[in-house]
Amino acid sequence: MRVAEALDTRITCRAFRPTPVPLPVVREILAQASRAPSGGNLQPWRVWALAGEPLAALEAEVRAKMAAGQIADGPSEYLIYPSELKEPYASRRFRAGEAMYAALGVARDDWAARMAEGARNFDFFGAPVGIFFAIDRSMQQGQWADLGMFVQSVMLLAREQGLHTAALESWALWHVTVRAFLGMAPELMLFCGMALGQMDETHPINRLRTERVGVDEFAAFQGFDPASDLS
Ligand SMILES: Cc1cc2nc3c(=O)[nH]c(=O)nc-3n(C[C@H](O)[C@H](O)[C@H](O)COP(=O)(O)O)c2cc1C
Repeated sequence: MRVAEALDTRITCRAFRPTPVPLPVVREILAQASRAPSGGNLQPWRVWALAGEPLAALEAEVRAKMAAGQIADGPSEYLIYPSELKEPYASRRFRAGEAMYAALGVARDDWAARMAEGARNFDFFGAPVGIFFAIDRSMQQGQWADLGMFVQSVMLLAREQGLHTAALESWALWHVTVRAFLGMAPELMLFCGMALGQMDETHPINRLRTERVGVDEFAAFQGFDPASDLS
């Protein structure tokens, strides 16, 4: 598979088939992703991959807490979004949410259905593998960007294996539970979870193709030979 095809066909998959992913496949994806670059070659990523009984046990723990009325362990350890999300980002985020609920056929004011869909983050949307990504809390913005490149590499390599993913920052809300469950050292900070598995092609949520702004809205070009512009 070409990189462009992997990029183009990667979506946030929000409904998976239960078909297991063999351990060698998960190991290979992570090993290949470790070729991702990092400033100073720090390789600042830490990863836990869960399947089967441990995955079910963690999901059940979070489900039980939510059933008891808890919506998080408390504030997440890092700000998932700026506290004041300015334009144009606020509108983009709003539209992404609206498009997702429209694809599900959930009305804007149907809070029960929205909450139920939100809760599906914590069963990894039915995926057979749940992955957690963490970083040493002494790391700075540069290393967080490195971690992002690693995470993206995992998502693209999954496509090459015929698999799909969903990166899930929502798991940062359950960092205390996840830390205790995984035995994560105190110096590490949970960045996000990720669902991995085969896409349920029949589920309407997976037909959502999110929008992107055009390249001229975020990029500027200087110094190119006008003769090279073939458009
Ligand atoms: C690091 C990261 C964390 C994310 N966390 C969540 C999440 O917790 N729940 C969710 O439903 N989607 C999550 N998303 C998915 C984004 O909403 C999605 O990438 C965006 O809307 C673009 O859609 P696409 O991935 O289908 O192209 C996350 C994406 C990234 C990159």
